[in-house]
Amino acid sequence: MDYLNIALPKGRLYEKSYKEFEGIGFACPEILENNRKLIFENEKLRIRFFMVKPSDVGKYVERASADIGIVGKDILLENMPDVYELSDLNFGKCKMVVAGFSGSNKNTKRVLRVATSYPNIARDYYSKQSRDIDIIKLSGSVEIAPLLKMADVIVDIVETGTTLKENNLEILEDIVDISARLIANKVSFKFKNEVINEIINRLSTSKEVSL
Ligand code: PRP
Repeated sequence: MDYLNIALPKGRLYEKSYKEFEGIGFACPEILENNRKLIFENEKLRIRFFMVKPSDVGKYVERASADIGIVGKDILLENMPDVYELSDLNFGKCKMVVAGFSGSNKNTKRVLRVATSYPNIARDYYSKQSRDIDIIKLSGSVEIAPLLKMADVIVDIVETGTTLKENNLEILEDIVDISARLIANKVSFKFKNEVINEIINRLSTSKEVSL
């Protein structure tokens, strides 16, 4: 039997993502050991996990290096990979927002300077409002941009709100709710349909039980 290849996002969703699979009988305990390995296999179950950057999960799945993967909706909206989005896993919940100093989004007379790691989401959001913006693409710690007066606002995810609060910034506008999603390669979904459907079903059942 072919292996089922699963891409998991490094970072804040990583452990929870693996635990989802472990919880439905797709375990590979070596994953939780503190090592630098990036690929983990369970030969008996014929599954293989890849540990990749969150922003790359969609790429591995789109190009069929992974059959399925777990990724935040923020990354899906930003990168629009050509994959199937199979289910909302209801963890990794946060919000995409516009944030800044109070009132800093109000001056509509001039081009708004927006710092973000999500240029496509920001562009899309402001184009729907016909608002001219200047995007400043940053790779992280975007909250610093308004503090240094490099940007008027940021478009970023907020989870607990601590980062904003500790930097005297606030949410100015909500854009969209975010959570972890299960995605699949379109061809794998067809040819490995049985096992992928089994995963979808077991994940949704395990959620009902834990509610
Ligand atoms: C994310 C996000 C915010 C922060 C929000 O950054 O970009 O900075 O988390 O979380 P909070 O509302 O719980 O404070 P992350 O920690 O992923 O690092 P980054 O700034 O390098 O993107």
